[in-house]
Amino acid sequence: MVKKRVAVLISGRGSNMAALIDAARAQDYPAEIALVVSNRPDASGLARAREAGIKTALVDHTACEGNREAFERVLDAELEAQRIDLVCLAGFMRLLSPWFVTRWNGRMLNIHPALLPQFKGLHTHRRALEVGVKRHGATVHFVVPEMDSGPIVMQEAVPVIDGDTEETLAARVLEVEHRIYPQALRLVAEGRATPK
Ligand code: GRF
Repeated sequence: MVKKRVAVLISGRGSNMAALIDAARAQDYPAEIALVVSNRPDASGLARAREAGIKTALVDHTACEGNREAFERVLDAELEAQRIDLVCLAGFMRLLSPWFVTRWNGRMLNIHPALLPQFKGLHTHRRALEVGVKRHGATVHFVVPEMDSGPIVMQEAVPVIDGDTEETLAARVLEVEHRIYPQALRLVAEGRATPK
């Protein structure tokens, strides 16, 4: 089996990244985490990746301020240099341009902490509690130019429980995220889930 080479893009603590790294340790897993890229120097996930022996890169968006294209060209060059097959966004807090998304079309996944198409965007747990939904969850999807859209690879629901706070609900959803992201990446790496 030739393992797919995966880059995980992060901006923060990287718990989903860590879940992917752990899953990819299994011999029969069809992908290896070849690179972790952060757009922020202070992302704690960077240290976590290094401890796991994964190559890391910092592509600091502030160094390219106001020039998204320049940032994305550097990012793209890092991915190409490592011969990356698939990209996983995991708490990566930059919007990507249609140019970049099109370049990685069908080869880039995102995890979103809600049951898409509900609650696109930020503060999903707070909004779920405000609306009063009884089911919330997480979604892994292919990335398309429109934010938090694109073909869904996997989705899992959790109950919203009386007395939930943003924190308790986020923790329940995060457990699901850590389970479904590795499963979804497996399906995509094996060619068993495609955008069409
Ligand atoms: C996760 O909830 C993810 O779904 C969202 O941002 C959070 C990132 O957490 N897009 P982590 O950095 O993976 O711990």
